[in-house]
Amino acid sequence: VSMQLLDGKKTNVFHYEAKLIKGKARNLSEIPGSYLGPVIKIKRGQKIRVIFKNNLPRESIIHWHGLHIPPEMDGHPMHAIDNGEQYVYEFTVVDRPGTYWFHPHPDKITGPQVYRGLAGLFIIEDELKGLPSGEYDQPLVIQDRSFDSDNQLVYVEESPMQRMQGFLGDQIFINGKKNLTQNVNKGTYRFRILNGSNARIYKLAWSDGSELKVIATDGGLLEKSLNKPYLMLAPGERVEIWKDFSDFKPNDNVTLESLAFNSGTSMGRMGGGGMMGNMGGGMMGGNSPGRNGEAMELYTFIANEDKGKSLEIPQTLSQIKEIEPTKAVNYDSPKQFHFYNERMNWVINGETFDMEEVADWEKVKLSTTEVWQFINGDDGSGMGMMQDMMQLPHPAHIHGLQFQIIERDISGMDADVWNSVKDGFIDKGWQDTFLLMPGMKVKVVMSFRDFTGKYIYHCHNLEHEDMGMMRNYEVL
Ligand code: C2O
Ligand code: CU
Ligand code: CU
Repeated sequence: VSMQLLDGKKTNVFHYEAKLIKGKARNLSEIPGSYLGPVIKIKRGQKIRVIFKNNLPRESIIHWHGLHIPPEMDGHPMHAIDNGEQYVYEFTVVDRPGTYWFHPHPDKITGPQVYRGLAGLFIIEDELKGLPSGEYDQPLVIQDRSFDSDNQLVYVEESPMQRMQGFLGDQIFINGKKNLTQNVNKGTYRFRILNGSNARIYKLAWSDGSELKVIATDGGLLEKSLNKPYLMLAPGERVEIWKDFSDFKPNDNVTLESLAFNSGTSMGRMGGGGMMGNMGGGMMGGNSPGRNGEAMELYTFIANEDKGKSLEIPQTLSQIKEIEPTKAVNYDSPKQFHFYNERMNWVINGETFDMEEVADWEKVKLSTTEVWQFINGDDGSGMGMMQDMMQLPHPAHIHGLQFQIIERDISGMDADVWNSVKDGFIDKGWQDTFLLMPGMKVKVVMSFRDFTGKYIYHCHNLEHEDMGMMRNYEVL
């Protein structure tokens, strides 16, 4: 990737090739020792040009997750380029300051490409002063991986049941590195957390039982900070937390953990000793992949001797303009999107991905507002027990815009499942991805602005996406 800032004044060109950055740049920095791509930092209003040259043996295309940009710039799989070709992106950054990211998006092979390291952060810099900055403003990209006895990455290609569930690794990587501890000064930090895993969902919590202080979601700062005992973070989602280590004594430490939770029906629930566990040798193909919802330690912070700045969370972090749902053209009859499994295919309203196809219910008008309801489960016409056994969590994601969550209906959920996750949702602020647990129904409101054309929406469990749990929507 080479990138150019087109803000009128300076024209900086940076090169990023095979994870090597030539030249130093404030706008494009590497996380030392990481397999991840560069961190692109940019201000709202700036225009950039990014040249993506595909040196992979397979086709690929880069998607800018969370950004409001024209369809040709969004990395739709129809724009995938072959080995040796290049794609030139040029767009103006109009989104709110916040933590966004980029990753490949070719049809059917997004999962393996992201898994092998192709992803990076796209940070739109703050406009608010007084937040932790410099080394006190840190990304935490959480990913899981598995290795064989030769220390080579293992993926799910060979195992249909693992693919069905989505890839779950047994080792955690933070910021593309295996080192899971970090020294911190006795000061206040801001952590920009991205769940960059293919399929693993985290139930984030501090090991000392202190609350998580949440300051931002996918689309940037909240109006006010929120305290949470734990947070559910599904693949693709971002959340930013505030952490003050000022009271720590040297060598005091605290671990960011993922707590156990009940991820739903059979495949999730029985991963350990149940039905799926027993099939481990056969269907799962060798090593049991574990399951979504098992407890894991993620990252440990150890205080050192140095003092840092101690900061208070600003009373008002940002202004959030709420979209009035009654302004939606379909407020009385929201469109419904059922995510479920049908005859071993992951489908949305019974359909799988087609490069060009757009159904009537996937067409929207430019400059209108709509309410969409996402439902984890079929419309009642399903196949009973088999359908039920294959009910898994789905992180739903819509390209090209940010939306607001206006309702999370749990009436169709298993009480155990709900109780194990219920305090972990932030249905405030701007989002582009949200966790849809089995039986859950979530309503979002959004406006279709500025650009016409085809975008996609999909499950951000990347194996589900690759299996076709993805569709076009078209702004007309
Ligand atoms: Cu990060 Cu289409 O997604
Ligand atoms: Cu996206
Ligand atoms: Cu899914």
